[in-house]
Order: sequence, then structure tokens, then C-alpha cells
Amino acid sequence: MPCILFSMVMTTEELLPERIIRFSGKQNDSAPCYVYISSEIKRMCQQFKDIPYPHVSVHFATMANAMPGFLRIIRESGLGVFINTIGHYKAVEKAGFSPEEIVFTASASSDELLQFLGDQGITVNLDSLHQVSRWRLLCPNRSFGIRCNIGDSVFPVDTTGGVFLGSSSRLGLDLDEIRSLAGDSDIKGLHLYVGTNILEMDYFLRCYDKLLELVNIFPGLEYIDLGGGFGVDEDSTGVEFDFKTYGEAVTQLFTKVSGAYTRPLRIIFEPGRVIGAVAGFFISTVTDIKYRDDKQLVGVNASSAQFPRPLFYPEEAVHPAWLVRGSKLVESMLVKSAVYGCSTYSRDYLSRNIMLPQAMIGDKIIFGNAGAYCNSAHTQFLGFEQAAEYYI
Ligand SMILES: Cc1ncc(COP(=O)(O)O)c(C=O)c1O
Repeated sequence: MPCILFSMVMTTEELLPERIIRFSGKQNDSAPCYVYISSEIKRMCQQFKDIPYPHVSVHFATMANAMPGFLRIIRESGLGVFINTIGHYKAVEKAGFSPEEIVFTASASSDELLQFLGDQGITVNLDSLHQVSRWRLLCPNRSFGIRCNIGDSVFPVDTTGGVFLGSSSRLGLDLDEIRSLAGDSDIKGLHLYVGTNILEMDYFLRCYDKLLELVNIFPGLEYIDLGGGFGVDEDSTGVEFDFKTYGEAVTQLFTKVSGAYTRPLRIIFEPGRVIGAVAGFFISTVTDIKYRDDKQLVGVNASSAQFPRPLFYPEEAVHPAWLVRGSKLVESMLVKSAVYGCSTYSRDYLSRNIMLPQAMIGDKIIFGNAGAYCNSAHTQFLGFEQAAEYYI
């Protein structure tokens, strides 16, 4: 396999924030809200559909965004869905997805849930030897996939949200457990989730190489599920994961592996963050300003309960922000700032460290990269309503 190093290209669309600034200038309502640029979501879906390998199915990971408007666009774009809970099953069913369009992977699933998934005919990847034995009992004639933790054969990288491979990950079957199932023709898929928000293409490819070494011990394979984890540039500088080079690399790899196997192997992708993160923005209004030492503290009419990524990932979540007055971007000198929410919770920050111009009451603060793991992660803690959504 060729060694492809970190590689990025400029996006074709560089004016997304400007479109949102115009939108915010026309808003009568100052309630915090999310705004999505639909064409950008569709463009990201298309990146996967353009992968030249002929046997690919793409399932959007709904944990990144299960809001009805978002799922509608995913459906219009011709993608399936990847779910991990019954709650999201209900959401995707309501959005019109049929069982054949759904892939399910979770852990510690109850017998009731496994039975339900089996009865629906949903593609299921199981997380442990125990889950495999329960599945056989509950759904005797149904094939399944297994989630592979190949961490002992690659050097696991600590991606946003933790390490997903190796002995410090709770997920999947380890190599010994996988090998103990060798020869089992009920196993129709191998599933791998490398990690999240990864821009380093080479790490994906190293992991795929190791996963594909297992193919020949399973005679009934139909698919290899490569999960998600495709990264988004946190600084919104307009660079993005190089899907063209990636698509060519996986096509080459899977053409070769399928040629040596008994039948062509289908690739399943489960992208989450990369599909909607850049397309989504969160708009709040400045309601208070304080100074502490050399830092400007900007209070807004929103909460981290409504923009929860910084709450869930305080170390990793970085969101670009723009300060807008009327319908104009404020471009004066930047000062050290924090943006805090309108609650009494001491950790209610939408951003702890950010450079912003001097703010004024009534200004808008627009956060970028807000289309994934944001509105659908809304928490009822603190009593804030879920923010409204607009698709433009
Ligand atoms: C199994 C699995 N697949 C796909 C995803 C989506 O990942 P990402 O948003 O990093 O693409 C996740 C996220 O946690 C996951 O656990």
C-alpha cells in the first residue's frame, strides 16, 4: 500500500460564514438558533458517493445529528443511516428510512434490542463474544457482523473523544476473540471504527491494512464496515480531508482484496462529523460583558446546554467564532475572550479561550463547525429549550 501522508485540499465553497452573517443580519428573532447550509451537507454526502469503488454504501452516523431537518437532507442525498440506539431507530424511521438502509452498531445491547433488530432485518455489528452467542440464540438464521478492535496490531492514536483501539478501548472484540470465531460463515461483516476527527489519512490506511488481514479467516464475508472518523479542520481555514486521494486509495486496496477473496466485498462507511460539521452555525446574542484581568468575558443569551460540544469535550472542542454588529462582521483588534452562557452553572462556557473584537450588547456571536454533535447533543440539564433550526 502506498504511504499517503496528511493531505488536504481547499474547499470549493469559501463563503459559508458570509452567508450566515447575512442571514443573522435579517433575523427579527434574537433567540439562539442553528443555521445549516443545505448545499454544503449535500456536497459532503457526494464526496463519499464519488468514491470510485463500485460496491460502496454510505450510512450517515446519526449520533452526529439526528435532527429531523438534517435527516431529511441525508435522505434526499441518497445516503443510508448508521444508528446505535432505539431512540435513533425511531428518528430514522420517522424520517422515512427503511430497515435495509440502516446499519446498527452498539455495545451491551439487551436481548430485547437484539431480537428487535434481527426481526427488522437490520444489518447489525456485534461488540463481544457474549453478544454473538446471544444473537445466535435469538436470531438463529440471521448473519451478522463483528466489531473488530485491532488495536494490538496497530499503534493506537488518541483521537478526539479518546482511544478507540487497543486494550484501553472498551469497544469491539480483540484479536484473540476475533480469531476464536475463524471459519464461522454466519459472519458477514467486519466492522472497524478507527477514531474520530482524524485528518491523517495514513492512520486510516494502516488500520485498514491490518483489518483486511483477517478477511481470509471468514468465508462468508459480504462487507467491510470502515466506520467514520473523518476529520474537520477546527480552525475553519477552508482546508478539508482529501477524499479524492482517499477514495482512490481505498478503491485500489479493496479491488485487490476482493480479487483474492471469493466475492467482491462491499465497503460500508459511517461518516458523522464530516457530513455536517462545517455546514452548521450557532447564532447567539451578546447580553452582558465583563472584564477579568486582561480577558473580555462575553455573556450571551444561550447556554452550553444548547451548544454542548464544549461541555462534552472541554479539552478538544474548538469552534471558530465571528462577532457581528447589524449585518457586518466586526474586524477591529482581537482581544483574549471567553463566551459564557446565561445560567448560574460555573462551567457554562460556549468557548473558554477565543480571540474576539471588543463586543457590544446586542452583537451576534456566530460559532462555526456547529453542524455535528451540537444541537442533537442538547441537554435538558439547566432547563434550556433546544435551539431552533434553519436550513438555507
Ligand atoms: C461506530 C461508529 N461509527 C461512526 C461514528 C461517527 O463518527 P464520526 O462522527 O467521527 O465520523 C461513530 C461515532 O462515535 C461511531 O461510534
